[in-house]
Amino acid sequence: METRIANFQLVESLLLGLVAERRRQPQDDLISYLLDTTLSLPGVPPRPLTDEEIVTHAKLIMVAGGGTSWRQIGITLFALLTHPEQLEQVKADRSLMDAAIEEGLRRDPTAPYHYRLVLEDVDFYGHRIKAGSALELGLGPANRDPARWTNPDAYDIHRPPLTNMAFGLGTHRCLGMNVARVEIGTGINALLDAFPKLRLDPAAPAPFLTGGLEQRGVSGLPVLLK
Ligand code: HEM
Repeated sequence: METRIANFQLVESLLLGLVAERRRQPQDDLISYLLDTTLSLPGVPPRPLTDEEIVTHAKLIMVAGGGTSWRQIGITLFALLTHPEQLEQVKADRSLMDAAIEEGLRRDPTAPYHYRLVLEDVDFYGHRIKAGSALELGLGPANRDPARWTNPDAYDIHRPPLTNMAFGLGTHRCLGMNVARVEIGTGINALLDAFPKLRLDPAAPAPFLTGGLEQRGVSGLPVLLK
């Protein structure tokens, strides 16, 4: 615990130092951009971001990129290993990898719930939502809406392509979604290249999805390589 607190403080002070440096001498980077940004919220005069807000953004990018892609790699690989026919198709035609990734994101996004604070009273599809309410948004459940996807629980890389909610939507849609897609594709392609016979180890305990509602991933992937 002490190490974690010390590391937290170290990151905080490194980032605060960077903000001070960029304030003195702006560069072509995110912190300089945020220093130059004006925050406009309803009912409050526009103002620049505080140093703490800039540091929070910088940390968000590090954390959001650090815990997501590798879990989604596991989720996608797990789906392919448990659907050997589709795995063979992807191995034979790597252009199907994008569909395999997208279908993994749809069926089991690693970050299936996100939250919003409602700033003003709003009517939403016949529901009155009061200002100050906290909303828990189920992106994962939306991705299995049977009104949008046929047989939504199935992993099927040949579905007609439709936008899903794995990366959110609107203003706060995932900043790193294209990085994440490249990371997942690069990782799985490299594994399939190195281990063409990659398969689940039938003697090992069966993997399962875990991680609650926020950081979902596979319990483990015991595999045979040769
Ligand atoms: C499979 C991997 C990933 C998934 C499923 C994912 C999912 C999401 C979702 C659902 C949001 C929207 C949050 C909201 O609306 O409150 C989000 C936001 C964000 N993601 Fe990702 N993400 C992934 C990878 C990454 C990576 C690799 C990065 C950075 C390199 C990243 C950076 C961010 C940032 C900075 C935001 C906040 C954007 C904003 O608030 O404007 N994400 N992500």
